[in-house]
Amino acid sequence: MSDKAVERRIEELRQAIRHHDYLYHVLDAPEISDEEYDRLFRELRELEGEHPELATPDSPTQRVGGRPLDSFTTVDHVAPMLSLDSAQDEASLLRFDARIRRGLADAEVRYVLEPKLDGASVELVYESGVLARAATRGDGRVGEGVTENVRTIPAVPLRLRAAERAIPAILALRGEVIMRIGAFEALNEQLLAADRAPFANPRNAAAGSLRQLDSAITASRPLDLFVYDILASEGGGEMPGTQWDGLQAIRQWGLPSPEMTRRASTVDEVLEYHAELIRERDDFDYEIDGIVIKLDDLDARRRLGATSHHPRWAFAYKFPARKEVTRILKIVPSVGRTGVVTPVAMMRPVELAGVTVSRATLHNREEVSRKDVREGDRVRVQRAGDVIPQVLERVDEPGRERAAPWRMPDACPSCGSALFERGPFTVCPNSFDCPAQLAGRIEHFASRGALDIDGLGEETARLLVSEGLVRHLPDLYEVKAAQLADLPGFARKSAENLVTAISESSSVELRRFLFGLGIPEVGTSVAGDLARHFGTLERLRAASEEELQEVAGVGPKMAERITAFFRSAGNAEILDQLVRGPLRLIEAADQSGQAEEEGGRAAAGAPLAGLRFVFTGGLAGWTREEAKRQVESLGARVTSSVSRSTDYLVAGSDPGSKLGKATELGVMVLDEREFAALLARHGVE
Ligand code: IVH
Repeated sequence: MSDKAVERRIEELRQAIRHHDYLYHVLDAPEISDEEYDRLFRELRELEGEHPELATPDSPTQRVGGRPLDSFTTVDHVAPMLSLDSAQDEASLLRFDARIRRGLADAEVRYVLEPKLDGASVELVYESGVLARAATRGDGRVGEGVTENVRTIPAVPLRLRAAERAIPAILALRGEVIMRIGAFEALNEQLLAADRAPFANPRNAAAGSLRQLDSAITASRPLDLFVYDILASEGGGEMPGTQWDGLQAIRQWGLPSPEMTRRASTVDEVLEYHAELIRERDDFDYEIDGIVIKLDDLDARRRLGATSHHPRWAFAYKFPARKEVTRILKIVPSVGRTGVVTPVAMMRPVELAGVTVSRATLHNREEVSRKDVREGDRVRVQRAGDVIPQVLERVDEPGRERAAPWRMPDACPSCGSALFERGPFTVCPNSFDCPAQLAGRIEHFASRGALDIDGLGEETARLLVSEGLVRHLPDLYEVKAAQLADLPGFARKSAENLVTAISESSSVELRRFLFGLGIPEVGTSVAGDLARHFGTLERLRAASEEELQEVAGVGPKMAERITAFFRSAGNAEILDQLVRGPLRLIEAADQSGQAEEEGGRAAAGAPLAGLRFVFTGGLAGWTREEAKRQVESLGARVTSSVSRSTDYLVAGSDPGSKLGKATELGVMVLDEREFAALLARHGVE
């Protein structure tokens, strides 16, 4: 390519990537697969690598860079970042509304209603459309400069869109950096696995990730952003006259604005919105802790002005708390279906935002000692979104005598087998005969994504095992209504219903059955891929590790675990009994081209589908196995040697000869930072 052509192509790629960023982050309507997106990105990075003179700081490739800082600079905000007047009671809201109406001399009042996002507030300053600076709120006048970190957030455009609206010479915006709940949980799992302290909640995780001196760490954290306020602007076309238009402008400039916003003109509508969002709070995949009511008309806002702390034109009507203090009555080791023994805090029941909570997981024995919680301690507990209740911390009670530190038992509380340790986890080895593991397996087998047996939850599964009605999974189909009717919690009708539900489940799609078996590492999507690829259970059972790895998303490790599962004599017997007996599997008729094709198509939906990764050297943040699992879970394949068909070589510290080979073949090499950023972009699960 001539230099001119390269320059043109680079610009074309940048524009395309920005456009797809906008479709993805702002409109929530991506038009290309992640794989295609990555291809554009890779091509741009390669061209910029070959032509460093054409690199510009606002290129989409330039999100992570620079050395770690020694300290943050302080930044004067373009306009003060005030906080919000807030309350949790209706009377305060009514007073706010009355004050507004008085203040505006009963002129027509219109509000904009927004969810109150529970994250970290930031100021973004764009100069001539390019992100120039970002700062935390700090004391409202002076914040910390976190520009490098904010640049790594995929939802933050490094350059604004000019397509629909003129861009002011200077534009200061305010928004909230958040971490979605799924990403937060995955991050905490990673931290725990690496023996590091997890974050107490998504807000802390967002704020903590934003305040890292090394922007590579921030890049590895799955942060997101919503922008809800135009703080100030200079130059450029006409600016919006209302909050509603402001939100529109924010989106047109290419930034995501809050979802579920609404206009209202009466306080009843505000109350309705508040009630609606409380109901839907758990459906959001990020934390909201109330609603924000803002006067729509910006002129009217200026007339009302602000106190030294908060504007008079806005109010946060908060939701009931989800954090309370209670007492741990007992710490009970609970054995799950995979044999992992989890310490569970049994607590004095406490109401958290409308739900009574009396149990919370303490994850593993190291977490118990790290938090130093013992039986009888007072603790702060939290329920956040779909997150299972968590013990946040111990509440000190000076002078009170505490129980001895809790200890994980040596023997399985369910079957008595000697427990063993795997990293921070404790495991019962008795996979087949441990009643607790069996109950866990039954519950999983009956769960929604598996055989979907109505009325067969945790408690019933335990009862079936403890009453000796089910000793092995296939016994489930032998249970008679008469045996159930006298058990606690059952009556004749419910017993019959359960037996009917069990028998109706016996005709089941292969993918659901595979998921229900609880094969290590096989979740719903891999189960679906396996079912499509192999078509029948018999073919899958006969598959070699190599054949398994032909399925996108199945790497060597997973292949090994799957074959080990099917090789186990105990599993084989159970499978035989199930399929020769009660179950009728709905299998893809044969392993025809159609099955293959569908498999291919489904795999193409996975973010990294079709890509081949090779690892070399040590990674600081992951074990090799974890890293592999992460990319495999995104649909990529991991192979052991570098070839022309390798897409990425992830090179950690002390890389081996693979690095030389990759360089020779022109394979893209990622260091750990880049690898982390790539995973983060896909929300790493
Ligand atoms: S407007 C002057 N809108 O809540 C008014 N703030 O407790 C500027 N927050 O520090 C704030 N969601 O970080 C506004 N939709 C929203 C918000 C929001 C969350 C945060 C903001 C502020 C805190 C006040």
